[in-house]
Amino acid sequence: MASLVELLLLGFATHAVAQSIEGLGVSGGNGSRGGIGDGAHVVQHAQAFITDAQIPTSPNTTRQLARGPAPVLSRINGTTGCGPQRNVVINTSPNGARQEMLGFGHAWTDSTVEVFNSLEPAVLDQVMEDLFGQSGNNMGFMRHTIGSSDLTGANQYSYDDNGPSFNEGEPDPDLANFGLGPYGTAMAQMIARMGLYKGDVFLFGAPWSFITTDGNQYTLLNNSLNINYIPQAIQYFTKYIDAFLEQGVSVNGLSLQNEPLNYQGGYPTTFLDAADEAAILNQGLGDALHDRGAIFLAYDHNTDQPVYPYRVKQGARDLVDAVAWHCYQSPVANYSVLDDFSYAFPGTLQFMTECSNYLPSGVNFEVAQNFIPPVQYGASGAAMWVMATDPDFGPHSPYGGCDGCLGSIIVNSSTVYTKTNDYYMIGQFSRFVRRGAVNFQVLQGNEGSALTSNQFYVLAAQNPDLSWAVIFMNNYGSDQNVVLSFSDESGQFWEGVVPNSTVTTWLIPSRIRNYGVSLQFYLDYHIIK
Ligand SMILES: *[C@@H]1O[C@H](CO)[C@@H](O)[C@H](O)[C@H]1NC(C)=O
Ligand SMILES: *[C@@H]1O[C@H](CO)[C@@H](O)[C@H](O)[C@H]1NC(C)=O
Ligand SMILES: *[C@@H]1O[C@H](CO)[C@@H](O)[C@H](O)[C@H]1NC(C)=O
Ligand SMILES: *[C@@H]1O[C@H](CO)[C@@H](O)[C@H](O)[C@H]1NC(C)=O
Ligand SMILES: *[C@@H]1O[C@H](CO)[C@@H](O)[C@H](O)[C@H]1NC(C)=O
Ligand SMILES: *[C@@H]1O[C@H](CO)[C@@H](O)[C@H](O)[C@H]1NC(C)=O
Ligand SMILES: *[C@@H]1O[C@H](CO)[C@@H](O)[C@H](O)[C@H]1NC(C)=O
Repeated sequence: MASLVELLLLGFATHAVAQSIEGLGVSGGNGSRGGIGDGAHVVQHAQAFITDAQIPTSPNTTRQLARGPAPVLSRINGTTGCGPQRNVVINTSPNGARQEMLGFGHAWTDSTVEVFNSLEPAVLDQVMEDLFGQSGNNMGFMRHTIGSSDLTGANQYSYDDNGPSFNEGEPDPDLANFGLGPYGTAMAQMIARMGLYKGDVFLFGAPWSFITTDGNQYTLLNNSLNINYIPQAIQYFTKYIDAFLEQGVSVNGLSLQNEPLNYQGGYPTTFLDAADEAAILNQGLGDALHDRGAIFLAYDHNTDQPVYPYRVKQGARDLVDAVAWHCYQSPVANYSVLDDFSYAFPGTLQFMTECSNYLPSGVNFEVAQNFIPPVQYGASGAAMWVMATDPDFGPHSPYGGCDGCLGSIIVNSSTVYTKTNDYYMIGQFSRFVRRGAVNFQVLQGNEGSALTSNQFYVLAAQNPDLSWAVIFMNNYGSDQNVVLSFSDESGQFWEGVVPNSTVTTWLIPSRIRNYGVSLQFYLDYHIIK
């Protein structure tokens, strides 16, 4: 017999969503491998978790995923706090449900793998639990670098160098010498450990450089794709997915080129035109990915050239499953381009796949500023860049790229590591929004934008157990007395304070449990009828 929760899910998780995450090769948000808010870990009572934006200069001087006073259910539209009231209204009418959520996370880089491999085994286990376990950040949306990136040390490499080093190999048109090599193997083996902590992480790969002008992997001054080598490119990526699977890692997606419009010399990059990205898909890569249960993510670059993914989508319509966006548009990312894309191509998933704190100090809103708006505009997940470094933000390329990018973890020695403020900021999202949650429109209460100084951002997601995770970013300058309500219901308000200069997550139990309605009545009325 079906459990009560299952019946409830059958009865109520029926909102039509524009972008569904079905068929992505990862399981849904129900059950023991999910976490808070899934069918096996039902949210029973209201809770609040708070991370201060102030980066602590000494340990334990700020709140980091600290429990705060829980919001209180009231029948009165008002607050007991002093100061003005901020009404937050979630659109729970049928058109308020937007996209399904896949998860939040980070990128595996060579720096991450190298510093993790320097840890003693028991300490590595603890780091993995902190990142992927249910007692930790429980991240579910991960990217990884294919071949070297700027967060690789001095040895730049690909999976088919065919020579003494990255830049000196002979062309290998049959890919006879393809192999993950020491770095790729170490990465696959480290990623495979993630499955011990969490079975259903969504993982996609992205190369920084692959086959370029000469047929060599990389040329310093003209690293653009030579379209004569499209068959080799297709083979390169299918071999990569198969090689990872041999190491026990299922690759769920591929972005063909990290930042295809960024082709500076100095570290591995490749210029890839949108028409060529579509051509590679059409000439066999799209089918090869789908045969292997992997999706294709187009673009993987900034919001300032939104026409690029449209061109890929128009050129290879059914083979483009998702669009990936980065945060580095100057002066600020403009995530409303995701809304435009959803309007043009309603079924296509979108993600924010790279953003980074650079030499952070003071107040840190970088994570929330680049996780909340993309989701509000249609993204099903978001990932920060490098997951872990040494204390000098490395190992990183000596020739260029990021020499000050902060991860969630700094490995200090073989037995000591430090969780950064980004770790806790990501946790405000990844711990509480389950796979299969549905993002809902916020009708009232969201304020400000990337171009204004007073920002109060709200993300409202309904988890598979029908509870709510509501995430607030208070960069407004003062405590906010929030009164939260749902548009399809009058006379029910959740009130509480969202403290100044914090990211605060409220967990609110399923409404049917809270309002004193008999569950049996609910089942009889809504399911049987
Ligand atoms: C949760 O499990 C129920 C019952 O097995 C299923 O009908 C529902 O689709 C699942 N929901 C998600 C989000 O996976
Ligand atoms: C910081 O707080 C944690 C959790 O309460 C505790 O385990 C740790 O010992 C504290 N560290 C310091 C330096 O006080
Ligand atoms: C609650 O009161 C405020 C005025 O303080 C009003 O703007 C808001 O719409 C009311 N909310 C509901 C759900 O009636
Ligand atoms: C770089 O290589 C591409 C592809 O072979 C070629 O079309 C382009 O002219 C080259 N650019 C320069 C500056 O050499
Ligand atoms: C952001 O993009 C939208 C289109 O989605 C455009 O109308 C708007 O002007 C852009 N804003 C900025 C600040 O560039
Ligand atoms: C580890 O290194 C970071 C960066 O230098 C430093 O902020 C942190 O305090 C160190 N942690 C310990 C426990 O030494
Ligand atoms: C809110 O926090 C900001 C950033 O830390 C600070 O500058 C400001 O003074 C605070 N406002 C109040 C009313 O405490």
